[in-house]
Amino acid sequence: MRIARRVLSGLIPLLLVATTLLTGTPASAASLVQVTGFGYNPTNLEMHLYVPQQVARRPAVVVALHYCTGSGPVFFAGTPFASLADQFGFIVIYPSATRDSHCFDVSSPEALKHDGHSDPAGIVSMVRYVERRFHADSDRVFATGLSSGAMMTNVLLGDYPEVFRAGSAFAGVPFACFATTDPSGWNNQCANGLISKTPREWGDLVRAADPGFRGQRPRMQLWHGTEDTTLHYPNFGEEIKQWTNVAGLSQTPTSTDSPQPNWTRTRYADRFGRVAVEAISLAGATHNLPVFTPNNLAAYAIQFFGLSDGVPLSRLAERTGRYYGNAIVLEELGGNAPYTEVAKSQFDMVTPGNAMKWETTEPSQGVFNFGPADQVVAFAKQNRDRVRGHTLVWHSQLAPWVSTLPADQLRAAMERHITAETAHYAGQLYAWDVVNEPFNEDGTFRQTPFFNAMGTDYIADALRTARAADHKAKLYLNDFNIEGIGAKSDAMYNLAKSLKARHVPLDGVGIQGHLILGQVPPTMRANIARFAALGLDVAITELDIRMQLPVTDAKLAQQADDYAAVLASCLAVRRCVGLTQWGIGDRDSWIPPFFPGQGAALPFDESYLPKPAYAAMARLFEQEAHR
Ligand code: XIL
Repeated sequence: MRIARRVLSGLIPLLLVATTLLTGTPASAASLVQVTGFGYNPTNLEMHLYVPQQVARRPAVVVALHYCTGSGPVFFAGTPFASLADQFGFIVIYPSATRDSHCFDVSSPEALKHDGHSDPAGIVSMVRYVERRFHADSDRVFATGLSSGAMMTNVLLGDYPEVFRAGSAFAGVPFACFATTDPSGWNNQCANGLISKTPREWGDLVRAADPGFRGQRPRMQLWHGTEDTTLHYPNFGEEIKQWTNVAGLSQTPTSTDSPQPNWTRTRYADRFGRVAVEAISLAGATHNLPVFTPNNLAAYAIQFFGLSDGVPLSRLAERTGRYYGNAIVLEELGGNAPYTEVAKSQFDMVTPGNAMKWETTEPSQGVFNFGPADQVVAFAKQNRDRVRGHTLVWHSQLAPWVSTLPADQLRAAMERHITAETAHYAGQLYAWDVVNEPFNEDGTFRQTPFFNAMGTDYIADALRTARAADHKAKLYLNDFNIEGIGAKSDAMYNLAKSLKARHVPLDGVGIQGHLILGQVPPTMRANIARFAALGLDVAITELDIRMQLPVTDAKLAQQADDYAAVLASCLAVRRCVGLTQWGIGDRDSWIPPFFPGQGAALPFDESYLPKPAYAAMARLFEQEAHR
């Protein structure tokens, strides 16, 4: 009885986890299926399987392991692994322990050795089954789990280093720490964090589990809350000792950072820079780690496994003859490491977010400053990206002196500005947004200093002046709220048509694409097509799709559909040449300061991890490339 109570006291917090987890509904498209007859299964485990609709050709496999009292289906429903599988095309196996405690066996002698007769052997049978049945990639099999599932992750990596490439253990204990012959399977000493060994001793326990193994050991990601009172925090340090020793590394981190508030992440890399062990300590967190949103720990695990690296959107876009661009601001570049990383890897077109605007490039009359813009262009060149110039004539972010000029001096000032800026970059840019936002919402011309001084003629004049200094760049007019057919896009259409008829040098129309969740106009494709029919290129120049905060899974799923809808309407028209998203990730987006209460508008999140919108676009580009 005493034993039973002890076990239970360890489980109560886990029951709490179970209830919170169950409230989340997975946004998964395919369904969970039970598999029987998967092979050797000495402890009568159950197997559930999640195969996403868009499964990869040789899919990776993630074994997702529940906490005590849980089950595979409960873990499926309560964690985002299935929706991550939808995004990245891997298969998830959800084993269930069927013994009374619904804990995995992480303590018996049979559990702690290669080819023993307990749960690990049954789980490996499940992996082998999936490898055979779905031609899964045996080089990309991973284990992850929470609590009992985290302990099992440690056990699997120890017993079967040839099966698992990496693991991610959320609130677990080292391999063999729970070893006991007590029939309850519960090891109080270990749970309470009272077992301490040297790295060598911990490492020897792992090496003894599969003495014949000589290959590359799996990588390990470890998570623990400092206030864990179920499997106490010292276990985290013991796990680090164990897995760094197994990897042949010292316990001194090769890097330390803090990807989210209250997180301390230490990494242990080998001399080739390969991170063999990564350990995230969560200050103030209890045993109930939020594996699901909002912190999205699960996405970090999937990233650690290398399953979300994904092919760059730009590479996918290129296969469809399009580009995929971003807007860069110097304030973030260099200082913000993940921003810079994503900026370098995902895009093949760059728009300076602010650096080419009039207030920066000609702050006082005749005083030009191309320094910031030059830096953005240099960054683009380094990455072999092309550049869209943005923007020459605009009422906003305009140097104040311009609006104080007498009307009869505006034309000369405008032409001089355009000539100086286009000449400075002549031959180097893919395109220029020559005039930005010329229209009001009702399709009348916006009353800007330029319009007020020159009437509609300022537009043709600006285009001609730009062409005179740069014969190469494609010259665009750019505006927002012209995505679908309506008064404003009609006005742009009529303007473009009359400019073309008068042989004014106009090459394209930029549709900014600052959209609201769930409001992609159904006429977007037809609208793009009518501009193209004028003999113009069309580009989506500033795409973002904002939502009312907070973020939910349902909103992210809607956003993925919205991004896909925008991309589909571009891909449907040959002369829609590419898309540019406005910013890199939700952290640097212009939306939160400009639209209070709204945000999360980009395909990469606050931590610069890809969101469902990224995956939706990647899939669509891929489909288009194979058409
Ligand atoms: C935004 C920038 O992203 C912000 O940093 C700046 O404070 C304001 O302007 N339409 C445009 C872009 O054409 O230039 C704007 O960029 C967003 C709306």
